[in-house]
Amino acid sequence: MGSRVAHNSDSIFQSGGGCDMGRLRVADEAIVSMYQGLLEPKQAQRYDRTGGWFARYSGRLADPERGRRYIRGLSNTIGVSESRLEKMRVLDVGCGFGLTCVTLAALGAKEVHGIDAFPKMIDTINAYLPDIEVGDRVHVRTGQADALPYKGDSFDLVFVMEALSHFIKPYDFLNEARRVLRPGGLLVLVDDNNGANPRTLRTNQEVWDRFENGPPTEDIHGHRVLESYVDKRSRIIRTQYPNMKDADVDMLARGTAYMTKAEVLDACAAYLERGVKPESLYRPGRCPVEPEQGQFIENVLNPLDLSWRYCLFWQLAFEPRDSRKMASSREPWFPDLGSEVKLANETACT
Ligand SMILES: C[S@@+](CC[C@H](N)C(=O)[O-])C[C@H]1O[C@@H](n2cnc3c(N)ncnc32)[C@H](O)[C@@H]1O
Repeated sequence: MGSRVAHNSDSIFQSGGGCDMGRLRVADEAIVSMYQGLLEPKQAQRYDRTGGWFARYSGRLADPERGRRYIRGLSNTIGVSESRLEKMRVLDVGCGFGLTCVTLAALGAKEVHGIDAFPKMIDTINAYLPDIEVGDRVHVRTGQADALPYKGDSFDLVFVMEALSHFIKPYDFLNEARRVLRPGGLLVLVDDNNGANPRTLRTNQEVWDRFENGPPTEDIHGHRVLESYVDKRSRIIRTQYPNMKDADVDMLARGTAYMTKAEVLDACAAYLERGVKPESLYRPGRCPVEPEQGQFIENVLNPLDLSWRYCLFWQLAFEPRDSRKMASSREPWFPDLGSEVKLANETACT
């Protein structure tokens, strides 16, 4: 194991009148140097279990200015005081490579749990946690947002950053968030896929078409398509039924758009046993589902839904507190509010 990433543990605690000994909060500059240590190309490669995604996805935080903006943006988005955060047990759902988890721990959270559906991301986090100062306050595991493996009333804050638009059962997730939050806990949702923005919508629709139908590409609006979803479904079907005729494989792969792997195989069984042809055809303009992970590539959230969504929050006994528009949830202080409006909805659970 390499050296620990946050350097000089004496200097990482905020100064402030000698009463910092028990404090958990780490100074912003030390958090920036933690990012740099984790994302230094050789280190990032050593931790990465995803074949290069770690650096590609998180690498920009190694730039000190971006790192600082990220920390301040996150702190502002959460919007709770340091002294309050220090008492909080936090859950980050769809935590990805965990940089939000470790930042929240470094900002002082008593305990941070992260969960993500993609096991290799969790493996990457577990590879670097022992090397960082706040690693012992962060715990991550693989799991689904709509079936959270935690006890009821066990968190003070549930945080979801850029992940709600990937959940195929977002409303089941909201029920789960309600269950695991203690009374009075906070749910903070941040997502920048603003479906009311025509440019965002158009870009997403191009991404959706490419992911569903291919052909593979190194870059479609910042995404890489290695195998289209229809090809993935064909592969799933051929693996299960190696002797099936090409025409049947093609018909089944096309008729099972939006299905997860288990659903695809159920549809194949229904066809083979009862002759029922699946009719779930891909429709341009509707976000496709990645069949093996069971997630949307990236859905859009329309702020016009917000009032409706708020009704839902009320129904689930959440008390909506705040809804904000930001330039970017990752870099909230980027001043251009014009074309890329992002949303952060904060609700309090009553
Ligand atoms: C765009 S990434 C965001 C990661 C991280 N929150 C961030 O801000 O960098 C979305 C994440 O949601 C995860 N995800 C998608 N569907 C999920 C589900 N049903 N349950 C848990 N995680 C899920 C994906 O694996 C992915 O890591």
